[in-house]
Amino acid sequence: MKSVLSRRSLLWGGASLAGASLLQSVSGSSVRFMNSAFADIAAPTTPIRMSSNENPYGPSKLAIEAMQGAFSEANLYGGITDQILELQASIEGVSPENVTLSAGSGELLQAAGVLAAWGEPGSIVAPYPTYGQLLRTAESLGTEIINVPVDESMHIDLNAMYAAIRPDTKMVYLCNPNNPIPSIIEKKALEDFIRTVAKDRLVFIDEAYYEYVDNPEFSSMMPLIAEGVNNLIVARTASKIHGFAGLRVGFGFAHPELIGKLNQMKTGSVSILAQYAAFVSYKDKEFQNYSRAMNKQGLAIVEGMCDELGLRYVKSNANFTFIETGIDSNVFRAAMREHNIMVGRTFEPFTTWARVSMAKPEEMMYFVQTYKKLYT
Ligand SMILES: Cc1ncc(COP(=O)(O)O)c(C=O)c1O
Repeated sequence: MKSVLSRRSLLWGGASLAGASLLQSVSGSSVRFMNSAFADIAAPTTPIRMSSNENPYGPSKLAIEAMQGAFSEANLYGGITDQILELQASIEGVSPENVTLSAGSGELLQAAGVLAAWGEPGSIVAPYPTYGQLLRTAESLGTEIINVPVDESMHIDLNAMYAAIRPDTKMVYLCNPNNPIPSIIEKKALEDFIRTVAKDRLVFIDEAYYEYVDNPEFSSMMPLIAEGVNNLIVARTASKIHGFAGLRVGFGFAHPELIGKLNQMKTGSVSILAQYAAFVSYKDKEFQNYSRAMNKQGLAIVEGMCDELGLRYVKSNANFTFIETGIDSNVFRAAMREHNIMVGRTFEPFTTWARVSMAKPEEMMYFVQTYKKLYT
């Protein structure tokens, strides 16, 4: 696997650098920040959310229109679940029986956590740190969580994870790209891992951020679902690239028998408004491309600052970055909050790192300006 710690020497071009227009001058990864590069950006009147990996642009105009059109059906149970499952199946090259709809991927994570905890007490092997929702659910039901630290380049260490599996291990949870560290697992290594491990136990691949990945070493594990691999669950969410975090739409993909078990464990349902919105949003490539492009601009701004200041960070494959500020994360968060910026909470054991979600590019410029004012 390649190192993800980037120290690129980048060049930022353009003289008049105020507002989003300057971002046109970003070309590829060739960006450099200069202190004088942009005029003083005024503090925002409301806090900028760089804390929860949301999409500042969503939901799309088409999704909003679809919800407005669905108001008159809000008295009805059901919705258009079958059409949504068919649409997902056709997008992903699987059968509708391989798909389940959930209230955000969070509901699926919790259902899978219950499934893993079902029956005899056992364990789940997971990277550390990672996204904790499934793990917390299973742990609260008596499952032991075996945390496997990321390696020194902050990648998920598949060999160590394999070695940590015990006879009582019922599931291996992997988040790819990971969160809070936006690293990826190399595709061939992951595929081999799944083919071996899923013979005897469940493997859960959380692909919440997969739409943002622009890295040839990455692949979704969806083809293994299409192939019929048992014991594998792939999770997706509309919360990120579609900007649906408040609408609650997610998906699970697995063998039909496993889908049946997950369906028994689910406790929520997706409102008819959110269903109509999802149906159009997944077909709306333009909005997805726009979200991706703006995210890339935001990342170029923040990672450019890190390069300029020599701050260690993990090259992002998602809609957030993870930076070693060297400052206690609680102190850093409070300092940013005073400037109307909300950044992520502390992620053990990286207590002097900050997770910064991508807001709009001009807002990321304000973040850079604030960071430089406070710490350079
Ligand atoms: C890796 C990962 N998985 C799942 C989720 C849950 O998202 P949602 O329940 O909104 O689909 C998140 C949320 O941030 C996440 O980061």
